[in-house]
Amino acid sequence: MKRNIVITGGAGFIGSHVVRLFVNKYPEYHIINLDKLTYAGNLANLKDIEDKPNYEFVKMDICDFDAFYKLMQDKQVDGIIHLAAESHVDRSIKDPFTFARTNVIGTLSLLQAAKLYWESLPEKYEGKRFYHISTDEVYGALELTDPEGVPAPFSTKASSENQHEAYGKDFFVETTKYNPHSPYSASKASSDHFVRAFHDTYGMPTIVTNCSNNYGPYQFPEKLIPLMINNCKNGKQLPVYGDGMQIRDWLHVSDHCNAIDTVLHKGVIGEIYNIGGNNEKANIEIVKLIIKTLGKDESLIKYVKDRPGHDRRYAIDNTKITTQLGWAPKYTFEQGIAETIQWYLENEEWMNKITSGDYMKYYDNMYKKA
Ligand code: NAD
Ligand code: TYD
Repeated sequence: MKRNIVITGGAGFIGSHVVRLFVNKYPEYHIINLDKLTYAGNLANLKDIEDKPNYEFVKMDICDFDAFYKLMQDKQVDGIIHLAAESHVDRSIKDPFTFARTNVIGTLSLLQAAKLYWESLPEKYEGKRFYHISTDEVYGALELTDPEGVPAPFSTKASSENQHEAYGKDFFVETTKYNPHSPYSASKASSDHFVRAFHDTYGMPTIVTNCSNNYGPYQFPEKLIPLMINNCKNGKQLPVYGDGMQIRDWLHVSDHCNAIDTVLHKGVIGEIYNIGGNNEKANIEIVKLIIKTLGKDESLIKYVKDRPGHDRRYAIDNTKITTQLGWAPKYTFEQGIAETIQWYLENEEWMNKITSGDYMKYYDNMYKKA
């Protein structure tokens, strides 16, 4: 079936993988990648599909209501997968306003434009979807305990195996109370509430997923895994916040994309699904694994001042999406992290263009040719 789908934030890390998957898998869909190209947007991530006939890039700020409403009309948009956001916790601590603007006002702007356009059609919301991509960070933090209930900190062994229940027996479920601690998670929580409100108030066909930390190719090197790989490779210090015993539930970005595909096509309107890889790791475990893989020395580790309000542990219970929609993560952490490290080693030029700022010129070179 033909569909016109806008993917917001498609030049970012996860968005570019979602765009690639949809453009390649659904030639009958017209995919519109809508992105403002902030520092985190990099069109070079999509070089391999930019000439495909079912792909189009539109440079736009999601806060620009009028421009987005016009796009909805011009392109007869019937589906929105909304990933555009300010996504880095450390930046949100320095500049919370930008996070409120993009993540809250931007999401509200998309919702209102979609509502007005879809309600103006004879079929109204029939066959339409507003799919909002969110994070497990909205739920706050879980306690860190070892399986025997011994309080942290305790020793870690830098395992590459998937670990579930290694750091506690409680998990985020879809009904866990929202309790965000950073300006980033507070802004995402607020956007989730607006999406739910549009469903409950206006009958908007929305779906929300809350996913755990992603890793994989094309992640901006301000985030833990690419930052550590890049620094380690270059023999630079590895800044570990606090005691390094913060736990994240890591999911390969391809698994997240497959989950998004599953939820868009099989998810129930109005529902929320948690997405996670059953793969809890302490930050220090990951750093040690990267050091070992690259054949470097642990003396590169530098424990630095902790992030304010730093959440101790995130861990997802993915029972709902696995049992109700049949999605399951395919990657083991062992395979995923090995491939990811290899990708960053083989794509030195991509990394160098980011660290030098050169990637910002890509849009002008590619899309503003005389
Ligand atoms: P990212 O920072 O790599 O990319 C964000 C993209 O959004 C960039 O291309 C940027 O240019 C674009 N953007 C930012 N502000 C915009 C605006 N005002 N208008 C239009 N475009 C704008 O982010 P990511 O890591 O790929 O995350 C994508 C989404 O997934 C976010 O909503 C994030 O909250 C969510 N998420 C991320 C993770 C993770 O581990 N990275 C986990 C769960 C959920
Ligand atoms: P990050 O990749 O920023 O994701 P998030 O904060 O959204 O989980 O950080 C992952 C974890 O790694 C988090 O506990 C903070 C920690 N961290 C460091 O210890 N050092 C670093 O340089 C960075 C970027 C993160």
